[in-house]
Amino acid sequence: MPDAPTDAATIREAQAPEWPMPRAEGCPFDPPPALRTLTAEKPLAKVRIWDGSTPWIVTGHAAQRALLSDPRVSVDERLPGFPHWNEGMAAAVSYRPRSVFNSDAPEHSGYRRIMTGPFTFKRVEALRPTIQKITDDLIDKLLAGPKPADLVQELALPLPTLMISELLGVPYEDHEFFQEYASRGIAHNVSAEESGRNFMALNEYLVRLVEQKAAEPADDALSDIAARVTSGDITVSEAAMMGLGLLIAGHETSANMIGLATVALLEHPDQLAVLRDSDDPKVVAGAVEELLRYLGIIHGGQRRIAKEDIEIGGEVIRAGEGIVVELFSANRDAHVFPEPDLLDLRRPNARQHNAFGFGIHQCVGQQLARVELQVVYGTLFRRIPTLRPAEPLDQIRFKHDRLAYGVYSLPVTWG
Ligand code: HEM
Repeated sequence: MPDAPTDAATIREAQAPEWPMPRAEGCPFDPPPALRTLTAEKPLAKVRIWDGSTPWIVTGHAAQRALLSDPRVSVDERLPGFPHWNEGMAAAVSYRPRSVFNSDAPEHSGYRRIMTGPFTFKRVEALRPTIQKITDDLIDKLLAGPKPADLVQELALPLPTLMISELLGVPYEDHEFFQEYASRGIAHNVSAEESGRNFMALNEYLVRLVEQKAAEPADDALSDIAARVTSGDITVSEAAMMGLGLLIAGHETSANMIGLATVALLEHPDQLAVLRDSDDPKVVAGAVEELLRYLGIIHGGQRRIAKEDIEIGGEVIRAGEGIVVELFSANRDAHVFPEPDLLDLRRPNARQHNAFGFGIHQCVGQQLARVELQVVYGTLFRRIPTLRPAEPLDQIRFKHDRLAYGVYSLPVTWG
């Protein structure tokens, strides 16, 4: 006869709710109701994912930070029991090169050192005038064009795409190709065939670029990465994977934040006024942190696996059990953020959010993202104070089917 703890565990597994969970109709900025219940009741629980397995879900802020900085927690997707996002990601284990995304320390530190150079605080601050110029040019073009206009196509996507293409030395003319494949690759449901096709297309493109940069280096990040191939530190596939990771993470994320935050601000005119009426860089920087907290955008849960038994939050995560870290729910944890569902651009501790992750895998591009968002939000509503949605909220197509949340398009008008 099974003992009591096993019984309890079996019942919990059988009752584990399906993950991901649907958002409530008409509440595009809030966590799904069932996720709120989990977050309120326990920082750790079990959920059922696409393959029927039941990893832990970690929703509490403190538990997330503890696990994300715990060396017993791994991102190694090859380990049996790893809670893959979908069939496509599971199949990719056999061909995806090693990188920051799927390696632990010390292997991870080697890859990460090669990637971080252009994204340090100092280097990114030096780019602020360029980011401001691109933003102003895009807004000039928007104002000179027809109304209504799609803010995603006119501003949210081109700004981060232009910046990351320029930094990496990837031709911007190819943006439709890589934006399309990047978006397909982060769908909730991707089959093994589709994932293989997406990866092949992007990988071939990046391998070609790395080889070109190795032969004829230029003053860009991909040339620096290619030089590490020439010196024998990494392989061409590893270099292409670094370039690919930076290219995708570098545009899709910030673009979603710009689009989604614009909708949220247009829906909260009192908060929009904070940005429109202030040119104090501290107020703008604080507003960006609060928007990152309130919206997250990396929804779907970061994936990890326990390498050893870990006692946490009154539970024991056993070695070999999967862990899903839903960063977005920690950003609405009332233990850290009073009235967490309120968008308050002057919230004093907004910067404690987990929107960029925590621990050794914390976002490489966070300074770049911050400056892009500070420039856009600090400029858009001051230059177009009458900006308003051209469609009601319920007509806007939100990315419920993507791991990076946002809007597919945002028709706006002004004047
Ligand atoms: C608002 C924009 C962004 C958000 C919300 C965001 C969010 C995140 C999060 C949550 C992680 C941690 C993933 C994990 O622990 O599993 C991460 C990692 C990463 N991000 Fe970002 N990101 C943004 C922009 C960028 C940009 C602009 C770049 C590129 C320049 C970038 C490059 C990366 C890379 C390379 C990693 C992997 C780091 C590692 O595993 O060591 N991200 N990002």
